[in-house]
Amino acid sequence: MKIIPIQDGVDSVSGGCKILFFTVETVHSFIKKNNKDHDLVIGVLREKIFTGEKGKISVIYGTHPDEITLLAGLGEEKHLSLSLIRKIAAVAAREAKKQKKKQICLQAIPPSGSLIRTDESKLIQALLEGFILATYEFSKYSTEKQSLPFDLILCNVKKNYSSLIEKTKILCEGVFFARNWVNENASLKTPARLASEAKKIALENKLSCTVLDEKSLQKSGCHLLCAVGQGAVHPPRLVFIEYRGAPSSKKKIALVGKGITFDSGGLNLKTSGHIEDMKLDMAGAAAVLGTLKALSRLKIRINVIGVMACAENAIGSRSYKPGDIVKAFNGKYVEVLNTDAEGRLILADALSYTEKYYKPDMMIDLATLTGAVIVCLGHHYAALLTKDKKLEEIIIQSAEETDEKVWPLPLTEPYSEEMKSDIADIKNISKNKNAGTITGAVFLSHFVEKTRWAHVDIAGTAWSPDEHDLIPKYATGFGVRLLTDLCSRLAKQF
Ligand code: BES
Ligand code: ZN
Ligand code: ZN
Repeated sequence: MKIIPIQDGVDSVSGGCKILFFTVETVHSFIKKNNKDHDLVIGVLREKIFTGEKGKISVIYGTHPDEITLLAGLGEEKHLSLSLIRKIAAVAAREAKKQKKKQICLQAIPPSGSLIRTDESKLIQALLEGFILATYEFSKYSTEKQSLPFDLILCNVKKNYSSLIEKTKILCEGVFFARNWVNENASLKTPARLASEAKKIALENKLSCTVLDEKSLQKSGCHLLCAVGQGAVHPPRLVFIEYRGAPSSKKKIALVGKGITFDSGGLNLKTSGHIEDMKLDMAGAAAVLGTLKALSRLKIRINVIGVMACAENAIGSRSYKPGDIVKAFNGKYVEVLNTDAEGRLILADALSYTEKYYKPDMMIDLATLTGAVIVCLGHHYAALLTKDKKLEEIIIQSAEETDEKVWPLPLTEPYSEEMKSDIADIKNISKNKNAGTITGAVFLSHFVEKTRWAHVDIAGTAWSPDEHDLIPKYATGFGVRLLTDLCSRLAKQF
């Protein structure tokens, strides 16, 4: 999709599909202006067929020959926000795409009412982000004709926003990258394939990349990661991809992603209804890689290590067994009581290895760790667990800015008791089924010694059962925008 910014209004362009945004208030002012060129639009507004109601789209045919106009409602001005603009732009994009025109013309919203206080570039970024993210299609496995390519003309822009447009495109490409990988067949995204993708990205963007294969994992003592991966034909990998955007600074942060390429549950096999979506279980790793790709292309001034713990949790005669006691990288013995609680095992090794050898100033892990987070927060919020209040605060700020929402859960004393083992140092599931997201995080906390650390459980948000506004059905790419924003914020603080 080519994006062309122009200073003139939508009237200067003819043909194609035009999108006009209205608040409830601007509907009235548009009627008052009574521009003769907009007879049809004014008619629709006068008749109150379209009132600017939030999320409402009206399609008007024949405003000019071979032209379709979409009216998109933003609701009342006092409730306007960037996140709402992003959403309505996405709703309008979906509708516009259906019209199958070669050209879509988007009216950049003139700052009015509460938006006067908003920086215009932020407004345009939100508009574009919503629009682009909603055009995503995973069409690789569809033989039906896909939607035709089109140009997007961005009208009424005051400045030359070409750099902003480029940046927004890069960010959205990071999201698409994560979505594509998560939607991909499990057998085509083995740990080795993910590792070579990281190497490719590293080469393209001048990053460094280190991959530990099964042998070096055994040798270095990552027995948990090896145990989880031992039942699969495709052996595990621990991947480090390093971006040095602030070479003069000693500070660096680690982003750690769960990369289970398929979670069958292992010998604690998942059942129908729970197993079908389990190619999603590498969404944390995909988000980390997508973020590193975006950060380096955007040249954000920060040092970041992306860590992907990759394994396939397969069932077979070689699989690790319930009851096995496995020594972790940090020397603790783990009693594996359920082979389906594998994410915490691979992350345990990834976190302690990263802490020991890379010594980051903070670590944030993203993982599709527990089904319990879906029971708790559905598909709209990820759970955020950290003891670090400052880190919690800044992650929440990024979540609010990007609308990749997180909600804090407690990571406090009473839950720790539940993970104690009678035969080893710790067990991988709690004695009861309660508070599964918290006990999962409690387990991880035993593998972080002194580094500032936050855990984000994205089991609900990485995958969407339905399509809505900028979220497609299935892989959402959750985390790329959140982490990129977070790194940009931290870059200013460091
Ligand atoms: N990958 C799953 C979590 C998951 C569930 C992600 C649903 C996305 C959708 C994880 O490895 C898992 O199986 N967790 C178990 C933990 C339990 C055995 C303590 C779960 O949530 O049931
Ligand atoms: Zn599992
Ligand atoms: Zn899993």
